[in-house]
Amino acid sequence: MLLVSLLVVGVIYENGARSMESLRELAAHRGLLIGTSIDDAELGSAAFRDLVARDYGSVTPENAMKWSVTETNRGIEDFLAADRLVNLAVADGQQVRGHTLVWQRQLPGWLFTDGRPPSADELRTLLRGHITNTVARYRGRISSWDVVNEAMGDDGRLRENVFLQVLGPSYIGDAFTWAHAADPSAVLLYNDYGLENGGPKAEAVERLVRGLLDEGIPIGGVGFQAHVSLSTPLDQLVATMDRFAALGLVTPITEADVRINDSADANVLDDQARVYRRLIDACVQARSCPSFTTWGVTDAHSWIPSEYPGQGRALLRDDRLAPKPAYDQVRAALLGPWWR
Ligand code: XIL
Repeated sequence: MLLVSLLVVGVIYENGARSMESLRELAAHRGLLIGTSIDDAELGSAAFRDLVARDYGSVTPENAMKWSVTETNRGIEDFLAADRLVNLAVADGQQVRGHTLVWQRQLPGWLFTDGRPPSADELRTLLRGHITNTVARYRGRISSWDVVNEAMGDDGRLRENVFLQVLGPSYIGDAFTWAHAADPSAVLLYNDYGLENGGPKAEAVERLVRGLLDEGIPIGGVGFQAHVSLSTPLDQLVATMDRFAALGLVTPITEADVRINDSADANVLDDQARVYRRLIDACVQARSCPSFTTWGVTDAHSWIPSEYPGQGRALLRDDRLAPKPAYDQVRAALLGPWWR
């Protein structure tokens, strides 16, 4: 009897103590990193920086490492914003996810002359230089890189971007090889959206990475962006992650947000919380998911309203930084039942 009472008291005490812990600590108990993207402009606020240091074990620069930012003017490097983010993260004991080296968006304007891309030789040299400089600069401080971003079309064929057009499909493997040479210890990822529930695009990405692995290309994982809506099917998420895991790859969730219509009433926040819960539960369940990153901290700063007019409120905190039901569900998932 005494033993039972002691046990009960112990469990209540343990659960009480853990319920005081931050998202970051709760995730750490599960061997998971909880992360967010951060835009440079947000770092001006001390309250914001404190919140990020408390709740997140991993950060991703939302824009600061993109080519158009690091080399706005040809030949002139600008890593001011990226350095600031990395230095703060290292000081706070956080991991940094590097984002992103090869993407058809946010390219520097000078890359094109009168709308025309450079020659194959020139583009190859420029891309190699960009990847090498960026990765080498943060060697040992960035644990994982999104090397190639969104290269697969929704139809399951490689996207007709400038890299494919000028360099052909080998640009993908080359990018991984160059990044690996610049930091052999970083985990190198292919990162994309729309992979959450399997289907033709996820299958095409699976064929792509299988091919890369067969060639001995140093790819370590596939990032699932998880920009989803309330109606995105997610029942195949764990199974889809498992398919990549079977190839020896990690499958972090890299850019989660759950967008909702501006016209929907406040009840919709509970539906959103359920979607977040499914995403985080899948990451906990899939052994290959080392980190769960949301694409921003608060609804005050999110890419959704500009990219999807009429939609927003996609993150865990509202525009006044207050935790939403989705935040509570992510916490609850990390806290888990008392016996775990
Ligand atoms: C977005 C940023 O959030 C915006 O600030 C920027 O204007 C455009 O890019 N997939 C990605 C991210 O991999 O880099 C994108 O970030 C969102 C979609």
